Amino acid sequence: MTATTKVNVAFAESSRPTVYDDAVKLVWRPLDASGGVREIVRAGTLAANSHNTQPWRFTVSDTKITIGPDFSRRCPVVDPDDHHLFASLGCAAENMVQSAVMLGFKAEAKFEAANPDSITIALDRSQPSNTELANAITKRQCTRAEYDGRAVSAEDLNKLSTAGTLDGVECLLVTQPHRMDAILDYVVQGNTAQMRNDAFMKELIGWIRFNDSMAIEHLDGLTARSSGNLSLPAWLARPLLRFVMTEKGENDKYAKQIRSSAGIAVFASATNDKSGWIAAGRAYQRFALLATARGIRHAFLNQPVEVDSLRPQIASYLGIGNRRPDLVIRFGRGPTLPPSLRRPIQAVIDQP
Ligand SMILES: Cc1cc2nc3c(=O)[nH]c(=O)nc-3n(C[C@H](O)[C@H](O)[C@H](O)COP(=O)(O)O)c2cc1C
Repeated sequence: MTATTKVNVAFAESSRPTVYDDAVKLVWRPLDASGGVREIVRAGTLAANSHNTQPWRFTVSDTKITIGPDFSRRCPVVDPDDHHLFASLGCAAENMVQSAVMLGFKAEAKFEAANPDSITIALDRSQPSNTELANAITKRQCTRAEYDGRAVSAEDLNKLSTAGTLDGVECLLVTQPHRMDAILDYVVQGNTAQMRNDAFMKELIGWIRFNDSMAIEHLDGLTARSSGNLSLPAWLARPLLRFVMTEKGENDKYAKQIRSSAGIAVFASATNDKSGWIAAGRAYQRFALLATARGIRHAFLNQPVEVDSLRPQIASYLGIGNRRPDLVIRFGRGPTLPPSLRRPIQAVIDQP
């Protein structure tokens, strides 16, 4: 399946919502313990993932779920080594492990070097119990808006840092304004390089869903509403894009967004390989769930780790030596935006 293919298996056509808010309610409905193992898969699909490509396939049995890549959804320009794709699988795995507690299972995620393309979630039955992180799964979102500039308390920073530290992943928190401005400088350099790259822009635009009906038709990609943009007909939005989305406009927007944030978090895994990238995704997702539970918003700023020449520069600035900085996010407080959509589990489950 390609980025532009419509998802016909998404909903039975008779039950496919026609209004964006109805689709949101369906996708983000609370987790339901009567749904069993398949509900754990649904929790996985609600994870953050690069460009909302949802680059995953799931194989399900009563005692385990395997998560594997869907390479037909890779983004070869922004993500040539599939780093983000495997980090996205890690995000899904963490949501699944956290949801299992609430859905009556004990779950353990395993990455086996002999099978480096997949993650296994081993399941055991247990008593369902609510946790702060599981409750946040259906509320988490990337909020690409300005925040209110308020600081996050030392207690919350401590908790966030602990949540984002997992399997050798280090979670570096930057809250001093002059250091956040230094990272802004890398974001601006990265964004400028990406916006001058025609192949990058073509790939990105292929995943933009310019209006509600396009978003509902595809159930993936970057929807105008959840990016804080106006919903427009595609025939109008496409030619307007280069006037609306300018290098200066985007860089100024990032400056305002970073300066309204309480801090920036950088996740750096122990190893620059699939196991490290998956671990970085898991650590980010756990951080994001805890932030959500505490009313703290977040959004990605990955430009400095996506542009090859900038990655070692930001690593050196952060003092992490030869380690790869995997993911960069900002966080702070503010209102939410409309959530993004997901394909339903029927579209992503394979028969064992
Ligand atoms: C590995 C990875 C890389 C991402 N990179 C970016 C990014 O550079 N910029 C951005 O705005 N969002 C980025 N995102 C966020 C996704 O676009 C977002 O998760 C997706 O659109 C679904 O939206 P949601 O997280 O609000 O549910 C990234 C997410 C992941 C997991």
